[in-house]
Amino acid sequence: MDYKEHIAIVEDWPKEGVQFKDITPLMDNGPAFKAAVDEIVEYAKDKEIDIVVGPEARGFIVGCPVSYALEIGFAPVRKEGKLPRETIKVDYGLEYGKDVLTIHKDAIKPGQRVLIVDDLLATGGTIEATIDLVEQLGGEVAGCAFLIELTYLDGRSKLDGHDVLTLMQY
Ligand code: PRP
Repeated sequence: MDYKEHIAIVEDWPKEGVQFKDITPLMDNGPAFKAAVDEIVEYAKDKEIDIVVGPEARGFIVGCPVSYALEIGFAPVRKEGKLPRETIKVDYGLEYGKDVLTIHKDAIKPGQRVLIVDDLLATGGTIEATIDLVEQLGGEVAGCAFLIELTYLDGRSKLDGHDVLTLMQY
């Protein structure tokens, strides 16, 4: 499947110099979206995953159908102030900004095997922060899956030692 034909490239968004990769045409296309989700599910199948974790907001869109297909739970990682119960947090850097990510303290039990899913691996700041949260709770990151990898931003260098799947590279 050529997923790239379903990605819209938007110049100078959300700010000048950034070439945004819009996944909404892929989401709009049933067979393409299903094929992408199925590929991540296939990757995860032999990893004995206990729970899928996805960062806000597009990590929910890709991660939730993966957890549904694997018949396991999904735990959201959200920006500060969004989760209603006790959380732990971590500061992180983005391709174009800075923020704080949080997860519910009881979202992952010690020893659980975690698959992290997001739409995009750019600088790797978000995945690095998400791994930090999972590991703070005693989870074991068994795999990281993304639709898109921006290889020129070298986010992979932050994922040393982790098992990584990306469906498209730019
Ligand atoms: C985008 C994207 C990834 C992250 C990748 O999310 O969905 O989560 O950036 O960038 P990085 O590898 O440089 O960290 P964003 O923070 O824009 O949040 P959103 O999905 O809520 O728009």
